[in-house]
Amino acid sequence: MRFPEGFRFGTATASYQIEGAAKEGGRTPSIWDTFSHTPGKTVNGDTGDVACDSYHRWREDIALLADLGVNSYRFSVAMPRVLPAEDGPVNEEGLDFYERIVDELLVRGIEPTVTLYHWDQPQYLGDKGGWLNRSTAYKLADYAGVVAHRLGDRVRTYTTLNEPWCSSYLSYGATEHAPGLGLGPGAFPAVHHLNLAHGLMAQAVRAEVGDRSDVSVTCNLQLNRGDADAVHRLDLIANRVWLDPMLRGYYPDELFAITKGICDWEFVKDGDLEQIHQPIDVLGVNYYSTSLLAMSDRPQFPQSTAASTAPGASDVDWLPTEGPHTAMGWNIDPDGLYDLLVRVHNDYPEMPLMVTENGMACDDRLVSEVDPSTDETVKAVHDPDRIDYLRRHFEAAGRAMDAGVDLRGYFVWSLLDNFEWAFGYTKRFGIVYMDYETLERTPKDSFKWYRKLIADRAIPQ
Ligand code: NOJ
Repeated sequence: MRFPEGFRFGTATASYQIEGAAKEGGRTPSIWDTFSHTPGKTVNGDTGDVACDSYHRWREDIALLADLGVNSYRFSVAMPRVLPAEDGPVNEEGLDFYERIVDELLVRGIEPTVTLYHWDQPQYLGDKGGWLNRSTAYKLADYAGVVAHRLGDRVRTYTTLNEPWCSSYLSYGATEHAPGLGLGPGAFPAVHHLNLAHGLMAQAVRAEVGDRSDVSVTCNLQLNRGDADAVHRLDLIANRVWLDPMLRGYYPDELFAITKGICDWEFVKDGDLEQIHQPIDVLGVNYYSTSLLAMSDRPQFPQSTAASTAPGASDVDWLPTEGPHTAMGWNIDPDGLYDLLVRVHNDYPEMPLMVTENGMACDDRLVSEVDPSTDETVKAVHDPDRIDYLRRHFEAAGRAMDAGVDLRGYFVWSLLDNFEWAFGYTKRFGIVYMDYETLERTPKDSFKWYRKLIADRAIPQ
């Protein structure tokens, strides 16, 4: 199978996970600075203060992308660099930083795919309730307009939000993501305000670039297995809660039914659904693994440890999945990607899709060895498990395309090992190894494998 010409091969990153330079260039703290600096919130107390130092080393990162041969790069803009103070002026230095990246990418023939919100919300918005506060949605729309005004149609695709599931349930319902309030069903206002932000941001971007750039959103849609009732409930809570309002202009009645008694949805105001329901050009899907569900009679809201726990799903249990698992403990289920893409395509057939993240955390080791072709000692990382994971998921995507899914691209998470949120630097997803002491970057075997896939537009066997 050959991927069609024009298929977008890329890698993905996010600002807080790679940039560092937390106090430079006029940037002010985000909720993730506050959270990661709070004892006990991240493994080893890791923070994004330095991360991969991409704020200073972005040219090196783009050189790696060029060497890899990708035609697209998905990265995010940090709002605290662009609008560092509430009601303050736009920070031109912040915009300059992203403009230089965009221009350098274009010089190298790489299309920028810009995520506008990948979780690093300014702390000044967090102080006012963050996503629990409706006005955050309007602030995000202003910010989206500022970015789109400067970067314009040099950006091929603007993505409003990354994984609103995490920005709501994991951040307000549970405690594992900033601000980590653990409010259970109190997360539903955040859910709705994120939907509203998406619609308002999409309009703000369109007002600047019209149809010259694509507008999109990225969700970590879930493909769950197990008990049919439990799967159906999670489908409402995790998938249709975004896709139906964004793509159809309504919340499903069944969602109201299953949250009866725990949420009255009175924060949904007249006219909101029209604002949310905006035409978009492509839907981004992040996919890593599947969950196994059962109905439960536990009365309480489960405390979250799995990335899939949600308020409103208290009658659902997550069962241990069959291995093999990745270093995150996530099961490896390439058929889940096929099933998910086919399912989304069947339910929203008009929507082109893009895999905006897929990849694997491994316990990688940097080794020094002699390169037989040059007799020189070189550094290397042998990551056959990641290659196997990527091969099987690319194959699943190819099968989905054969089955009629309109899939436009595939972004490997991630270009570099980076700050994996609450897991700090303990989990490595990169196809380039980061030495966090020296900040040296070493392409792994998977990098070379992906380079061949891109060059051939076919999966190396
Ligand atoms: C989802 C997120 O978008 C990204 O920030 C994260 O690092 C990866 N998946 C891996 O967990």
